Amino acid sequence: MITAAEMRRKYIDFFKKHGHAEIKSASLIPENDPTCLFNTAGMQPLVPYLQGAKHPAGRRLTDCQKCVRTGDIDEVGDAVHLTFFEMLGNWSLGDYFRKEAIEFSFEFLTNELGIPLNMLAVTVFGGDAEAPWDEEAYKLWNSLGIPEERIAKLGRKDNFWGPVGETGPCGTDTEMFYWTGPKPAPQKFDPADKRWVEIWNDVFMQFNRQADGTYVELSQRNVDTGMGLERITAVLQGKASCYDTEIFGGIFAELDKIRGIETPAERTAMERIIADHLRAASFIIGDGVIPGRVGAPYVLRRLIRRAIREGRKLGIQGLFTARIAKVVIDQYGEFYSELRTNAETITSELEREEKQFNTTLDHGMKEFQKMIDRVPAFVEHKVISGKNAFNLYETYGFPIELTVEMAKEQNFEVDLKGYEEAARKHQEMSRAQNEQKFKGGLADHSEVTARLHSATHLLQAALRKVLGTHVEQRGSNITQERLRFDFCHPEKMTPEQLQEVEKLVNDAIGRDLEITCTEMALEDAKATGAMAVFSEKYNDRVKVYRMGDVSCEICGGPHANRTGELGHFRIVKEESSSRGIRRIKAVLEAK
Ligand code: SER
Repeated sequence: MITAAEMRRKYIDFFKKHGHAEIKSASLIPENDPTCLFNTAGMQPLVPYLQGAKHPAGRRLTDCQKCVRTGDIDEVGDAVHLTFFEMLGNWSLGDYFRKEAIEFSFEFLTNELGIPLNMLAVTVFGGDAEAPWDEEAYKLWNSLGIPEERIAKLGRKDNFWGPVGETGPCGTDTEMFYWTGPKPAPQKFDPADKRWVEIWNDVFMQFNRQADGTYVELSQRNVDTGMGLERITAVLQGKASCYDTEIFGGIFAELDKIRGIETPAERTAMERIIADHLRAASFIIGDGVIPGRVGAPYVLRRLIRRAIREGRKLGIQGLFTARIAKVVIDQYGEFYSELRTNAETITSELEREEKQFNTTLDHGMKEFQKMIDRVPAFVEHKVISGKNAFNLYETYGFPIELTVEMAKEQNFEVDLKGYEEAARKHQEMSRAQNEQKFKGGLADHSEVTARLHSATHLLQAALRKVLGTHVEQRGSNITQERLRFDFCHPEKMTPEQLQEVEKLVNDAIGRDLEITCTEMALEDAKATGAMAVFSEKYNDRVKVYRMGDVSCEICGGPHANRTGELGHFRIVKEESSSRGIRRIKAVLEAK
């Protein structure tokens, strides 16, 4: 029975034997791409090389890349979902293409791993209006011995991969499946049958998707493949879940020790969440992130806190996250040496966050007790309202299960329906807030958005200085985290222009200009030269916001009082929004 560590070695050695250079996994945090929180695939750190830059290790590469996918974080707890996982991969950067890629995959699966042919099936791109079907891949698989009834031709949804995000390298792919149901496997491959589990994906990376949605040929034809290590290990071991493999064995054993229990027959969702989240958190801290309020630091915080809450549900009282992290560091430290180097930071950051959250939890406990005490003893049917239960969740991070348990101990019930209702309302509200387009006035009058709003004015002024007065606002959207500004300009901005714009905005912030607001007739406002939004319908009387000699705009506000309150302005992305319209996303950071 092959273990994950053996599998990793076997894969990399096989491709080394075939002329590939072994490269080290890149950090989980993408370099030079502030718009992406984590690396989600082996190819992500290789994008510049897939686009033609020369890789120092050559044109054939192989590695095992650390990945984090947070899209379905709430699904973790079931048998299959993971936040952190490892992806094995081999790449051809303008070297071999379809034929060799498929031959390598076939040889590795059948010879190296010894998987019988009758356990395998594949899919190939079936073609559509834009691209022909992948007859070559079909014939290759067939000539290697995969019978026709085990080759499915599927559409773009299944057999076209990438790009990550909106732009970048992508192409048609062929996917390999392994039969996990009772033997023998059905003669005919039914891709909809979940017992056929995808184990490997070979992408024939031929295109670069542009911001306007069109595909252009890459300067070279590449191969990008990806095999999830946890999944292949589980299926080859005949396990229904990767949580049942040795990958999680050590973590679970430590968890049992912490709880002082014997090894249970089956693991619960709570145990799986703790194992997954703390494994992910250890790796993320190992790559230099510490818990915080936005971006990757926030994801990290969520992972740790959720693990702690699940721990409480299991009855764990003392600090435990660092103990789990130590198991992770021991288990993975040889291959991922950064875990050893940063072992001290990993355990101390976890402990710090855990202590901090425990304090919040304790405050929540007090709040809970107050709710209980408010209900007179003579009330027969004692209930905690849905609103209060939700407040415990939202403010103090109490899982509803914990509230229910604690309530029961004091002969209270929790209005679960009311809780669901409150949660739904809250969700709808945040969704509505997110979707609300900012126009004239602001959806959210908080200080944060007011500052971002003021920054938007400074940005427009700076853009007009650097690019020319043809620049005009075409859209604006502000969230708690960032501003987004669309404006007319015919071409991509250069890095120098972006730098210059940032500098101008930060200079204006540095001058701590007063932001004044004057009400006047629309005509007068226009006469003073105040900028107006092209498509906006204004009332006869308008507000004009002025920031020193830098900016003067007709606008509903509200704004900060002085530009000095804004902090440090940073552009995180400049991209095409539509024809002739560019889009900038920017943030304000603490100075
Ligand atoms: N990029 C492809 C994937 O993530 C193959 O590595 O599946």
